[in-house]
Amino acid sequence: MTLDMTVRPMRTGDINAAEALTGSTFHALDVATNPADWPAPEARSDDRRSAWRDRCAHFLAYDAPGCWVAEDDEGLVGVATSLRRETMWMLSSFAVRGGAQGKGVGSRLLEAALAYSQGCVRGMIDASQDPRAVRRYHQAGFTIHPHMLVHGVVDRSRIPVVEHVRDGSLGDLDLMNSIDRQTRDAAHLVDHEFMAAEFALRVVDDSTGSGYVYILPSGGAYLLAATNRRTASRLLWDALAAVPEGEQVTVDHLTGEQDWAIDVAMEARLSVYQRGYLALRFMKPPAPYVPSPHFL
Ligand SMILES: CC(C)(COP(=O)(O)OP(=O)(O)OC[C@H]1O[C@@H](n2cnc3c(N)ncnc32)[C@H](O)[C@@H]1OP(=O)(O)O)[C@@H](O)C(=O)NCCC(=O)NCCS
Repeated sequence: MTLDMTVRPMRTGDINAAEALTGSTFHALDVATNPADWPAPEARSDDRRSAWRDRCAHFLAYDAPGCWVAEDDEGLVGVATSLRRETMWMLSSFAVRGGAQGKGVGSRLLEAALAYSQGCVRGMIDASQDPRAVRRYHQAGFTIHPHMLVHGVVDRSRIPVVEHVRDGSLGDLDLMNSIDRQTRDAAHLVDHEFMAAEFALRVVDDSTGSGYVYILPSGGAYLLAATNRRTASRLLWDALAAVPEGEQVTVDHLTGEQDWAIDVAMEARLSVYQRGYLALRFMKPPAPYVPSPHFL
């Protein structure tokens, strides 16, 4: 059964409703797929709601033709936001209101967002557990790579002395864009400005290698890229060392190529789980690399 609805470009006035729709849809998915031995998923906090709205405004400023909504008589039914950086297209958010799923809305939204990928050689999507999402991405020509996540309390006695990792700033923009091109073939450009304002940034640039990590407020890596595995491991240890003592940490979005990260996690006595996928078009999983869920 298809749904009577319209797909149109997103506007600034849609941001609040889009945040509410994605918040409730992803929370429902988290509840439905939560492993029995994990704590119950929490709804998006006020801070994360505000960050979602800011990020959406950023995409509307730089990628308006990649941002779409579907609406019916009752309001928004679905949202898709996508971005394009150099030769890479990425899907940042994709959700259809509960009750309207499985009726072709997602298919229409993804088609509109994918039109913005024209001219881009490569594509990246952080895919959820939802089999409907995976089906859509596969049909759009993406290959599907399982993600692991590591979780637990870091055994601080295992943290090695990590030298030459320093605070980063936008003065490191050229360096970070260059590392991006070496690891995933496309720089993050303006997204670095957004991320540097939101997250702590740590950088390595010495004779052994270069890399950077954006660190989540709870510790752990939000986005990590490096020119070699040893540098990537140093940055991950640095991010884990930032977790307050006794607090839980999660590092997500690790494909099988990130065995350097699994080595660090095992040494730190974290537990490994599997959740979600990295969907890729015309590229292999970047490495050593931990993608951001929103800016990939
Ligand atoms: C993923 C999502 C956006 C897709 O939107 P949608 O409107 O439900 O998708 P569509 O109806 O266009 O397509 C769903 C496809 O999955 C198929 N499908 C439905 N249930 C399925 C299941 N349990 N297993 C596998 N495929 C399934 C449908 O048949 C359809 O494929 P087809 O068109 O080839 O027949 C939506 O389901 C959603 O919001 N899910 C929760 C949030 C989420 O996971 N977002 C993706 C983030 S990466």
